[in-house]
Amino acid sequence: MKIPRRNFLFLAGAGLLRGEDRPKLDMLVRSVRPEDLEMPLSGFADYITPIDHFFVRTHVYAPKVDVDSWRLKVEGEVATPLTLTLEDLKKMPAVEMVSVAECAGNGRGLYEPPVPGLQWGTGAVGNGRWKGVRLADVLKRAGSKETAKDILFDGADVPLGTMPDFQRSIPVKKALDAYTILAYEMNGETLPVKHGFPLRVMAPGWASDSWVKWLTSIRVLDKEHDGFWMKSSYRHPGKPVAPGSAVPLEKMQPVTSLHVKSVIAAPLDGTQVLAGKPVMIQGVAWSGDAGPVTSVEVSVDGGRSWKPAVLRPEQRTQFGWRQWGFHWTPSQEAYYTILARARDAAGNTQPLDGEWNPAGYSWNVVPRVGVDAVKELSAASPALPPAAPNAAQPGVFKSACAVCHEDDVVRQQRLTRAQWDREINKMTGWGARVKDEDRAGLLDYLFSNYGPRPRNR
Ligand code: HEC
Repeated sequence: MKIPRRNFLFLAGAGLLRGEDRPKLDMLVRSVRPEDLEMPLSGFADYITPIDHFFVRTHVYAPKVDVDSWRLKVEGEVATPLTLTLEDLKKMPAVEMVSVAECAGNGRGLYEPPVPGLQWGTGAVGNGRWKGVRLADVLKRAGSKETAKDILFDGADVPLGTMPDFQRSIPVKKALDAYTILAYEMNGETLPVKHGFPLRVMAPGWASDSWVKWLTSIRVLDKEHDGFWMKSSYRHPGKPVAPGSAVPLEKMQPVTSLHVKSVIAAPLDGTQVLAGKPVMIQGVAWSGDAGPVTSVEVSVDGGRSWKPAVLRPEQRTQFGWRQWGFHWTPSQEAYYTILARARDAAGNTQPLDGEWNPAGYSWNVVPRVGVDAVKELSAASPALPPAAPNAAQPGVFKSACAVCHEDDVVRQQRLTRAQWDREINKMTGWGARVKDEDRAGLLDYLFSNYGPRPRNR
């Protein structure tokens, strides 16, 4: 491809050809380090989410990969183990496709009762244009054997303390799917570092915990992988369970396909609109393996009646999101509750109420936005002052907890004493140093400051 000279200079100057990143813009910061950034609602106005607005999810600090020495190894149940350079991969047939990348925990902050983890709102999701090689082609080149069951991915990222290395596997069926690719480009640019430079897995339709970044190793296994990130994390009961209940890990299954889902991007919740004047209700909708989204219905009366929204026909791809719009004129001065419900090609639709699960995965409840239709708009109400500073942090918190990350990941939690107890166990298991005599005080501090409370404190 010929790149116009001006663009080329711009790309080279910004280091983008080497996978260096432009700054992100207007993101909601869930964790400063390791970096977890959420796209604000305004991002749903784009069909393809620009890279500077694309959410970022990292379990550990992003590694800086030197592409000259970087290699992809393909090993395990294969006839010919491979060691490939990026150039080797780029010589293979390339495919490009649009797909949503959505974090399994997107929407976790909406669960009641609250669950531990990053408290994402709606924006741990983006719609990208991904280019790379088919994983099936790479596995074929290595001569993947009949015994292959699971394909295990590992990246160049290094775990913190004694936490288990982030490794994920997908079943061979998904790996051989023609849509599953190893991506080296995103939105027509070299994959940025925050998104996995130089190579990441892209398993469209599946939550992006399977989309391993900074990929260095593919191992073909003859059995299911049983590492921490498959057996103790990213698990879902697969059915609704009583809110707040504990479900044993073995009674849950790995998170795989995304569920059909819609987001209302405008108007904003809690705002005013003019009675008698047209309002455009708009948003996006997507699904997973059961995509594409085939319809979106909107209700402006809290779910008593529903009418179809208009979907963009050219956006009917299996894995991308579809933007939708609904013309509405509030007939009178009143408070209206707006809902949007998507349906996918397999006929799946969204639940009206939260179906709770212990780690807060796969939130896809019908979104709800309240607007006040008035005769004249009043001046915007001032933003709430920031929450009062926290009680003084005990020494043990500073020395044992604000180490691998800041206190931001702690401040967003709203957990019971039992949940905090388990968090302390998880973190000491990963290397947090809490002396026996300090443990009870730490638990008291965490529970009394970051215990269950209304969402917006
Ligand atoms: C050895 C490094 C390390 C130390 C020390 C540490 N953490 Fe963490 N913690 C992590 C990492 C890494 C994550 C992010 C995990 C992820 O993104 O999946 C995390 C995430 C969290 C979260 C978000 C919820 C979750 O489970 O992912 C909470 C809450 C938390 N830590 C609390 C604490 C507390 C309290 C302490 C002190 C007792 C502590 N951490 C000490 C590494 C550490």
